[in-house]
Amino acid sequence: MSRIRFVAEDGALLNEAEATAGDNLLDVARLAEVPLHWRCGQGTCGTCKVRIAGMATPQRPGRKERNVLLRAGAIDAELAASDEWREAEPWRLACHLAVEEGADWEVLCPDY
Ligand code: FES
Repeated sequence: MSRIRFVAEDGALLNEAEATAGDNLLDVARLAEVPLHWRCGQGTCGTCKVRIAGMATPQRPGRKERNVLLRAGAIDAELAASDEWREAEPWRLACHLAVEEGADWEVLCPDY
């Protein structure tokens, strides 16, 4: 079982949830009634970008996710070109991210 805490930019707890490995992070947020902005649900618009603390490293986001995060202004071109990330709090797309086994994540939801 994994534990996910959703927090606002000021650090206020929005909600917390338990999840199973493989659960989609956007689905976890929606079930926990976290008011996370999203639009396409398919990893193409960048609206659901969140910053996550507690992820295992390295992370290996796919090219599509990196390009969307670059277009959304969340990461720079150098990071977008890298196949392997060692970011302490990487930006990721909630609709495109599966919860890891045993995750203990703090998910920063921008705009809250
Ligand atoms: S909702 Fe569009 S990229 Fe996630």
